[in-house]
Amino acid sequence: MTQDLATFINEKEQMITNELIHKVAELSIPNQLKESMLYSIKAGGKRVRPLLMLASCEAYAGTYRKVLNTALALEMIHTYSLIHDDLPAMDNDDLRRGKPTNHRVFDEATAILAGDALLTYSFELIASDEQLTETQKIHLIRRLAEASGPKGMVAGQSLDMQAETKAVQLEELETIHHLKTGQLLHFALEMGAYLGGADKNQLSAIGDFATYLGLIFQVQDDILDVTGNAEQIGKPVGSDEINFKSTYPKLLGLEGAINKKQEYVTKAKNALHEAKVTTSLLEQFLMYISDRES
Ligand code: IPE
Ligand code: IPE
Ligand code: MG
Ligand code: MG
Ligand code: MG
Repeated sequence: MTQDLATFINEKEQMITNELIHKVAELSIPNQLKESMLYSIKAGGKRVRPLLMLASCEAYAGTYRKVLNTALALEMIHTYSLIHDDLPAMDNDDLRRGKPTNHRVFDEATAILAGDALLTYSFELIASDEQLTETQKIHLIRRLAEASGPKGMVAGQSLDMQAETKAVQLEELETIHHLKTGQLLHFALEMGAYLGGADKNQLSAIGDFATYLGLIFQVQDDILDVTGNAEQIGKPVGSDEINFKSTYPKLLGLEGAINKKQEYVTKAKNALHEAKVTTSLLEQFLMYISDRES
């Protein structure tokens, strides 16, 4: 990771985590529900989505105050998706962010409800954000619902589950990855740029960049499921093979998956060039995400 990016992440990551904890801690809600929500939020994670949202806003000279609540909302939705992804009915995993999964510490019902709560609370956060105009709020809520719901991440998760029991071609696999992982990253970058003041052409180019970044993110996730170590990635290695998942390494072999990732990196760089950003932070993020070991 470059020094600039390391400094950016160091500065912002702790602030994001503190704010996330604060937003949940201040709720007057049943104790067990709150503990379960806080457990997964406090477990950590890289915070890639809110960090990208802040970086994208900054790339168009916007201020992070404007995007902060939406970035927190996005991380809550991501955290909910992980809690549900780990459930026995889905990937049935015992380890997440280096800790036992939510349903292992609490029970399945509590884990389901903690996920539901993080999902719905995220929309409340945006709707009540005093930094945003009414028009901005409606646009953000609509785009977040599209990215995370039945046209976006949930669609991808549904196709991912179905792909456990059938052979999938490369094109279909790209669609699954684009939906289950790409959509939330796309939201982060596009809406960060929107609130930062990007124009129509820039928004379109940043959207293309996000599409490739989403694919790169999931290919690397699939690669790490084969080559990673559990301590470093904070989740079990080999889970995809056990679950008969359709992945790039399974379809193309490890070499093939790495080559495919390189193809996407070249395309992402071209799109970023078109996006005419004013900082090099997003390019640094691209390389970090492509080469990440955790
Ligand atoms: C894991 O996401 C799930 C995928 C979409 C591949 P992250 O790798 O961002 O998980 P955390 O937030 O760092 O735990
Ligand atoms: C899940 O993909 C993406 C989500 C929407 C949660 P994976 O099932 O590959 O994510 P990990 O490897 O468990 O983090
Ligand atoms: Mg999964
Ligand atoms: Mg999983
Ligand atoms: Mg995975």
